[in-house]
Amino acid sequence: MSTAGIHDLELATTHHVLDMADLAAARGVDPNKYLVGIGQSRMSVPAPDEDVVTMAATAASRLLERHGTEDLRALLVATETGVDQSKAVATFVHGMLGLPSSVRSVELKQACYGGTAALQMALGIVAREPSARVLVISTDVARYALGTPGEPTQGAAAVAMLVTAEPALLAIEPVSGLATIDVDDFWRPNDSTTAVVDGALSMGAYQNSLTAAWDDFAARGGAPIEQIDRFVHHQPFTKMARKAHMTLARHTGVRLSGAQMESGLAYNRELGNSYTASLYVALASLLDAEDDLAGKRVGLFSYGSGSVGEFFTGIVGEDYLAVRRPEADRAVIEDRVPVGVEEYMALHRRVLSSEEDAETPRVTRAPFRFAGIQGRARRYEATGR
Ligand code: CAA
Repeated sequence: MSTAGIHDLELATTHHVLDMADLAAARGVDPNKYLVGIGQSRMSVPAPDEDVVTMAATAASRLLERHGTEDLRALLVATETGVDQSKAVATFVHGMLGLPSSVRSVELKQACYGGTAALQMALGIVAREPSARVLVISTDVARYALGTPGEPTQGAAAVAMLVTAEPALLAIEPVSGLATIDVDDFWRPNDSTTAVVDGALSMGAYQNSLTAAWDDFAARGGAPIEQIDRFVHHQPFTKMARKAHMTLARHTGVRLSGAQMESGLAYNRELGNSYTASLYVALASLLDAEDDLAGKRVGLFSYGSGSVGEFFTGIVGEDYLAVRRPEADRAVIEDRVPVGVEEYMALHRRVLSSEEDAETPRVTRAPFRFAGIQGRARRYEATGR
């Protein structure tokens, strides 16, 4: 049986952070609606010189500092916040990291599910060539129009994962449950910088996808639910993961405890929705929070509106504690610089047109920045940090 999986991972987020209590006050909403009802405390807000490319390159550079580029055969970047209709985010990142030309680079998209598609593709590459290593990056900025119900469920993050044949963190088990259901619950038209969503429909579609994916998983001989020790679910907002957990318990008729998914909520509560990255932010949160997970089975539910869902499982490595770096992850979250609502709204409204050359102000403290537009192309540079 293949034991390929996630060998190590690294988080990145934005320079700024907005407190949900401040947003609630500005919108005339009871703060507990956001803090308790939706389950979000803060959300990441990109600086003018940050985007999905800079977050992806930042997370990946920290990962490769530890693991090098030897035998790296592919760089797969999942995002639903692509910066170009043709050139892959992966190709920008490949150049920024100075990777060998023998690394294939591609971008994958299916809403928030893209990261899991990239992970499965990486597992396929490693199964065919066990000495190969694959860098998978999920990176997104969740953006809804100002003043809409989706606004408190914005956020941003990237997770870079190294997929290998002998993973230290999580060996992915071979059975997956899949559910593709064509539904217009959430999408982003080509001429829009913000998502369009039917909130109630999207929550129902998420739960239908979960039960359908679970049924497929069970029919294909996946682990019985009683043998799954922890759960991480895609988290557009943390309350959604609680709803997913209850739906799974109801659907299977098996009593599941809240404690089986609680540790996976902490980071998402701080970062907000990060679309493709959100499930893997939750995995990082779980692995950082608990120190007795060696050999335990984790169930993961990945959901991408539109829609594709996948339920799969992984076994936590015996030496996972030697690889995890919880202090570094917490520093990524704690080092963000607070913004007020006015500044957040100004940043939200700032969209550069590719028609005009522009330089961005130097704000980010990350190792890479988006320098601006020149000759209709996006320019990135290292900051030397
Ligand atoms: N104190 C405590 N709780 C309160 C409260 C208060 N004062 N006021 C309201 N609440 C609770 C409500 O009871 C509700 O909780 P329950 O769902 O458990 O009943 C919760 O706060 C939210 O209240 P509303 O339903 O009234 O909120 P809303 O209609 O304004 O918006 C939303 C909620 C539809 C999720 C909206 O934020 C949205 O559209 N978000 C974007 C879409 C989304 O994330 N969908 C999730 C599935 S799709 C997906 O997963 C893909 C993806 O990443 C986008």
